Amino acid sequence: MSVILLGGSPAPHSSSSRLLQHIGERLALHGQRLHRIEVRDLSATALLSLDTDEPSIARALAQVRQADAVVVATPVYKAAYSGLLKAFLDLLPQDGLAGKLVLPLATGGSQSHMLALDYALRPVLASMAARSILPSIYATSDQLGRGLDGSLNLAAPIAVRVAQGVEQLASELRLVAPRPASEPAAKDLHAVPA
Ligand SMILES: Cc1cc2nc3c(=O)[nH]c(=O)nc-3n(C[C@H](O)[C@H](O)[C@H](O)COP(=O)(O)O)c2cc1C
Repeated sequence: MSVILLGGSPAPHSSSSRLLQHIGERLALHGQRLHRIEVRDLSATALLSLDTDEPSIARALAQVRQADAVVVATPVYKAAYSGLLKAFLDLLPQDGLAGKLVLPLATGGSQSHMLALDYALRPVLASMAARSILPSIYATSDQLGRGLDGSLNLAAPIAVRVAQGVEQLASELRLVAPRPASEPAAKDLHAVPA
């Protein structure tokens, strides 16, 4: 099973990316194979000109195509998800999430826009035929503390939500039927045929 961690913040020291990283580490403990895509690291020119042949974009799209699940992280910007994330989602085919599980998560400055994932992002994900969109995880920046060693120190309610989200995603992934032999998993993308 392969899981994409998709980060949609333009900020280099992003709270949503830190939460995404934390969830990735928890999923790895469940034996999931992870690929990280930070949209801000892709070619901006290619993103804005819908150039799906540009190498960084083509690689990211192939990783999404091969994935069984996508964890999508975004900051809340102007009561919605980030424009950067939308630029990447616009590159996916209309059924680009078909058969995939999706776990949406966001960080925001306050609780005021905690429903942004549900009213703004969820319909977009559904329009791309996601197999199942799990309950969203939302945290404010001040619920994401730092421990003395720099590690993420989640407020108790968020830690509970994260544990639930990870457990649900991992258990639903266990229910996904194995791929047919003709359809290689993401790790086999570069394998040399025998
Ligand atoms: C341009 C911009 C717009 C924002 N708009 C909102 C908003 O509408 N509602 C909100 O709760 N927070 C808003 N914020 C705060 C961010 O959502 C918050 O700081 C978030 O944790 C940033 O995540 P990031 O570090 O992953 O980019 C905004 C921040 C910026 C820079």
